[in-house]
Amino acid sequence: MSPSFSEILSKSTVFSDRNVISPHYIPAILPFREKEIHKIMAGLSPALKNERPRNMFIYGKTGTGKTCSVRHVIAKFLEHPSSAKTCYINCRMYNSRYRVIQKIAKELMPTLDSMGFGLAMLYEKVMSEIGKGTHFVAILDELDMVKDLDDLLYTLTRANDELPAGSVSVIGITNKLTFKDQLDSRSRSSLCENEMVFDTYTTTQMQAILSQRAKMGFKPGVVDDGAVNLAAAIAAQETGDARYAIKLLLKAGEMADEKGTAKITDKEVEEARRSVDIDVAFEAISTLPDHQQLVLLAISNLALDKGKNTRLTGGAPEEEDSFLTSGEVYEQYSVLSKKHRKPRRSARWYREYLNDLEMLGLITTIESGAGMRGRTRLIRIGHSPADVQKIIEKNFAIIESK
Ligand SMILES: Nc1ncnc2c1ncn2[C@@H]1O[C@H](COP(=O)(O)OP(=O)(O)OP(=O)(O)O)[C@@H](O)[C@H]1O
Ligand SMILES: [Mg+2]
Repeated sequence: MSPSFSEILSKSTVFSDRNVISPHYIPAILPFREKEIHKIMAGLSPALKNERPRNMFIYGKTGTGKTCSVRHVIAKFLEHPSSAKTCYINCRMYNSRYRVIQKIAKELMPTLDSMGFGLAMLYEKVMSEIGKGTHFVAILDELDMVKDLDDLLYTLTRANDELPAGSVSVIGITNKLTFKDQLDSRSRSSLCENEMVFDTYTTTQMQAILSQRAKMGFKPGVVDDGAVNLAAAIAAQETGDARYAIKLLLKAGEMADEKGTAKITDKEVEEARRSVDIDVAFEAISTLPDHQQLVLLAISNLALDKGKNTRLTGGAPEEEDSFLTSGEVYEQYSVLSKKHRKPRRSARWYREYLNDLEMLGLITTIESGAGMRGRTRLIRIGHSPADVQKIIEKNFAIIESK
């Protein structure tokens, strides 16, 4: 008999408030970011005195608290009475000049039906609204995702020369280290009027962040100090990413609930680490462009076939034979491209795809010795080929059913 909801709901849990242990939750207090928050507030404050704030560029590795600090500041900004306006834009979603301007238009004129307006028309509408005297701050999070970013920055900064009153400023946020070099020099100098770097968290800082969360999200006595310290150490060592650390805690809690234990110890954290690493890899796979996914699928398929064969012949997996040759993978990739109706790319592109996959840690490659096969690149998959195959085939099934 299937269980009732009340049975499921009454199942014991280690969480007191599971939402708090979600990476989307923004705590009211952000430890170790007071200085940064203060600087962003100071940078924005001219807007509250009827002046144009300088543009600001915020850089820091993933999970260093850029988004949550800026969101924290926006919330405070809105509490303060003024005619200034802000608009938070996640450029992963709004990834072109047109989409960003459309989003700004919607923010300034909620009743406007912007469908069917061209860029010039939307821009005019935005300008006449801001020109009434609004100091407007566009917060462009993950702005490296904008395809025509130089055009967007040019449009937004040029606005100030045309406005009779009011102003437009930009706060740009990114975690891409090399991003600034790709901008043209005019965009760079206007965006970086004011620059700020978010450092990665140290192990001790990570411990404090995690224990703050653990206190709010788990029942008293559930989490060992040792478990928090271990999660903090793992996250600090690997990346310094607070989001990863919080995911570890969440997963560890879920595992404790599954097992029906009332404690989170080192053991749950270790297990959570494996599972979170797989989740992270799979997230990376799902967001890969089609051809990289097809190459990875080719590798998984061949690795699975080969696995069957080596089991038959008893070959050891660590030997060179457990690698695939670049040629056989390219052949299989060609077959798959045809099957999924994505015209096969040239060998030069294919080599690039292998480099990309290796950079992401999804495969490893080595050069073979000058043996019977001649010199060739040998490829091995980094995760379970069956799991990788499942996820990519699912992605393609979804795309093709659309
Ligand atoms: N100082 C902090 N105190 C408490 N929680 C924090 C702190 N910094 C980050 N976090 C938490 O870590 C997670 C990631 O933070 P955030 O989204 O701000 O990172 P980010 O720097 O914007 O990363 P990305 O570059 O990947 O977008 C969030 O869940 C946030 O609540
Ligand atoms: Mg962010």
